[in-house]
Amino acid sequence: MRTPTGPDPACPPGQAPVVVLLGFMGAGKSAVGERLAHALGVPYVDSDDAIVADQGRSIADIFATDGEPAFRALEHSVVARLLTRPGVVLALGGGAAMHPATQALLRAHPRTVHLAVSLSVALARCGDDPSRPMLRHPELAALHSLRTAAYSELATHVIDTDRLDADQVCRHILQVLADPPTQRSQPDGNRPGSG
Ligand code: S3P
Repeated sequence: MRTPTGPDPACPPGQAPVVVLLGFMGAGKSAVGERLAHALGVPYVDSDDAIVADQGRSIADIFATDGEPAFRALEHSVVARLLTRPGVVLALGGGAAMHPATQALLRAHPRTVHLAVSLSVALARCGDDPSRPMLRHPELAALHSLRTAAYSELATHVIDTDRLDADQVCRHILQVLADPPTQRSQPDGNRPGSG
C-alpha cells in the first residue's frame, strides 16, 4: 500500500473521481461503489459499463471476437478518460489496474481503495459467470496473487472484504474519506473500531 499523498498536479482534486475502487473479480467493487455513490450523493461510474456503452457489445463478446489484448487497449483508453471525471465514484474492472499507463495514472490519485478478496471467496461470489471470461483463465490462482500484490501496491487503502458485506465495506470507505490523509497509512481493517 502506498502512502496517501496530497494533491498531485497530474490529478488535481475537483478534476478526478472522489475515490477509485480496485480489486479482483468478486471483490464487490460494483455493489460497494453503487452504495458509496448513493451515500455521497455523487454518480457511480463503472469502467466495464463504460466500455460496453462505447462499444455497443458485451465484454464477453469483445474478448471472444477481438481477444484480450484488444480489450485491454480499449479498457485503458476508457479508464484514462474516466480518471478525469470529477466527483464520481469510479470502479475499475479487475484487470484495468494492470496496464502500466493506467498504473501511472492511479499513482497520481489520492484515494484508491483496494477491496481485497481471497480467491476462494471471489470464486464463491462470482459462481460460474459467463460474462466474466477471465474466470476461465488457466492460471487463475497465479493471476489472483499477482494482481492482489499490484492492487495493494497501487492503493492508498486496503480493505479485506472476505468477511464483510457491501454495506460494511461502504461504511469503511466513508470513514476513510472522512479521515485526514496523514492518518490513513494503516490498512483500514487494522484500525481500532473499524470492524
Ligand atoms: C476482468 C474483470 C471484469 C471485466 C473483464 C476482465 C479481469 O470486471 O473487466 O471481464 O481481467 O479481471 P470485474 O472485475 O468487474 O468482474
